[in-house]
Amino acid sequence: MNTNPIGIFDSGIGGLTVVKSLMEQLPYENLIYFGDTARVPYGPKSPQVIREYALQDTEFLLSKNVKMIVIACNTVSSVALDVVQKVSKLPVIGVIQPGAEKAIEETKNKRIGVIGTINTILSKTYPNIIRQIDSSIETFSKACPLFVPLAEEGFINHTATELIAKEYLFELKIKKIDTLILGCTHYPILSNVIQKVIGDKVKLIDSGKCAAEKVEILLNEKGLKNPSKLKANVEFYVSDIPHKFTEIGELFLGKKMGRVKTVHL
Ligand code: DGL
Repeated sequence: MNTNPIGIFDSGIGGLTVVKSLMEQLPYENLIYFGDTARVPYGPKSPQVIREYALQDTEFLLSKNVKMIVIACNTVSSVALDVVQKVSKLPVIGVIQPGAEKAIEETKNKRIGVIGTINTILSKTYPNIIRQIDSSIETFSKACPLFVPLAEEGFINHTATELIAKEYLFELKIKKIDTLILGCTHYPILSNVIQKVIGDKVKLIDSGKCAAEKVEILLNEKGLKNPSKLKANVEFYVSDIPHKFTEIGELFLGKKMGRVKTVHL
């Protein structure tokens, strides 16, 4: 079981930012990634449909004999964590709890901002978890849907991105937050612009990175860590290979992807 891969899934290629963090945190773990590129984005879809898709994504990973499941997608983690937990019976980690816990640790003035897709923000999952842990913290949320296509267009340090970031983040800036959760797989790609606009005193929290740290803790607790020190095997599956896939994928992963296989769920 310990040499079995960790299964990771996302609505598309954004979850490769989480794979990047996992590869850095756990270089000897075998990984299998599934990105639902044929049906991305999940962010604006209804929670019912996202729950249905999450179930199918999980079933695909289970068919690959994974030892645990990481939900890289903030939208799925917000509205369908219970679905994945119910069907898999394996350890499951979403990105919301780890990101929320880290933000609570970091905030000094107890004012945390959350940005994410429409569903992630509407679900209020981040503020609810934060309130359960520390009810004295105030959270301020803002959906930033245009950040997803901007990141996928490679508009990393672009004036258009800066303009849109100013529009989105103004509301959070005047609330004097000192910590901002990047509650979407794509936002770490735009962290330079986000930091510039929100100001350098605000600490940015990469929820995927926090999840990778939690995965290591969980593997140790459950005795599931791969004892091998051989180069890990990382496999990539997607439901479609759209235009510019490799270019964007490698931007998110920060390295070459190698072979990517297509599957139809
Ligand atoms: N992966 C999604 C998330 O983290 C962003 C892209 C989408 O809307 O599907 O919320």
